[in-house]
Amino acid sequence: LVHETGDGINADPLVHAMVNNHIREAGPVILANYRRDAGLRKALTQAPEEVIEDVKNSGLRGRGGAGFLTGLKWELTRQSPGTDKFVLCNADEGEPGTFKDRVLLTERADLVLEGMTVAAYAIGAETGIIYLRGEYAYLRAYLEDTMNQRRAANLLGINILGKEGFNFDVRIQMGAGAYVCGEETSLISSCEGTRGDPTDRTPFPVVKGYMVSPTAVNNVESYCCAARIMDMGPGWFSGIGTDRSAGTKLLSVCGDCERPGIYEVPFGTRLGDILERAGADDVACVCVGGPSGQMVGPAQFGLGISYEELSTGGSMMVFSNQRDILEVADAFMEFFVDESCGYCVPCRVGNVLLKKRLERVRKGEGAQSDLDYLQRLGESVKFTSRCGLGQTSPNPVLSTLKNFRPVYNALVKDNGDGLQKSFNIMKA
Ligand code: NAI
Repeated sequence: LVHETGDGINADPLVHAMVNNHIREAGPVILANYRRDAGLRKALTQAPEEVIEDVKNSGLRGRGGAGFLTGLKWELTRQSPGTDKFVLCNADEGEPGTFKDRVLLTERADLVLEGMTVAAYAIGAETGIIYLRGEYAYLRAYLEDTMNQRRAANLLGINILGKEGFNFDVRIQMGAGAYVCGEETSLISSCEGTRGDPTDRTPFPVVKGYMVSPTAVNNVESYCCAARIMDMGPGWFSGIGTDRSAGTKLLSVCGDCERPGIYEVPFGTRLGDILERAGADDVACVCVGGPSGQMVGPAQFGLGISYEELSTGGSMMVFSNQRDILEVADAFMEFFVDESCGYCVPCRVGNVLLKKRLERVRKGEGAQSDLDYLQRLGESVKFTSRCGLGQTSPNPVLSTLKNFRPVYNALVKDNGDGLQKSFNIMKA
């Protein structure tokens, strides 16, 4: 395996001894050549409110997948009462098939820290935390080393770059392998040293987050974008992508394709184009956004990657026609059953029931009524679960019911017809 961009994005041999990042396409925002810390230097010439205004005007939306406006999040955090404010970087990249943050942390560690520092200046925070996925523990020493270099260059610490009164430093908090800790309130609980359970929102973290203080929690990629926006300007950024989805998106493409790896594409790029570039033909299904996203088929390949059409935190798993789509959905449900924190009933019980009913259908023992049950229960779990895990966990079932209905119908057809007939006779 080779590092395929060949432009020496990160020439640090340590990085490449750690992991091969397989960067296939570098886009203009994240993986382009950049002027290190130019964004931070520019931000420090402006008032914090002006920085927030720039980020708002750029149209930057959260890269974890939900798409909340980053500038608005920073503004709300700044405006919330409280003297201690915090900047948290969600690097708990646990969604199966997502590995783009891992690549950013190795190839662009300085840019991530630069973005966090810009955020700290904007909201008025002195402490930042990178919540690092347990499985990425091997990155810790490298990140600590990068932070030490930044301290030595006065890019972290007291009176940063000579800006009187702007003090900010970052620590790393290790995760321990729980998927739910990628959900922001669980992540906060874990940072506080308690069990990584979700808590109720509202209040949102912008009001009461880490240590019950106003906290901006953003994805690794969002911080990188913010730093670049400060350097290049909000108009430059909003000119890339679509009207409602500005900038680029980093995608980690894997599965049945010739060129798996990292692609940075402008929002609006069609799914079919990405598949072509990744050398994926004979594709039956793409899971866009990981198990918590959508499983889509060829009828959706014309859609663009964007918050308004096909939203993704970065995961893109390709499945060829040789795969059993419902086996994939079943495996994803098993993942959610394992990873549910167990706090709320809809998620703890609902996902088990969904999986069992799906198994029945896969064995050919199901009826049309089982498909109705899967639909109704899936919607209930989505609607009633306490946090983002349960609110997205039925998606493998719901999106396959929507986009691969003939696969289900072929499995239950006879049974369903028979049962419906008996039901009609009984009613008559
Ligand atoms: P959300 O839409 O509830 O919130 C998104 C962000 O905006 C959060 O930081 C939240 O605090 C903030 N926010 C929302 N409304 C707010 C308000 N009125 N005032 C202040 N702040 C507000 O989404 P959530 O629950 O954080 O995450 C669910 C999403 O996560 C899903 O839509 C899915 O796309 C994505 N996801 C991403 C994964 C990944 O690995 N990147 C894994 C699983 C899900």
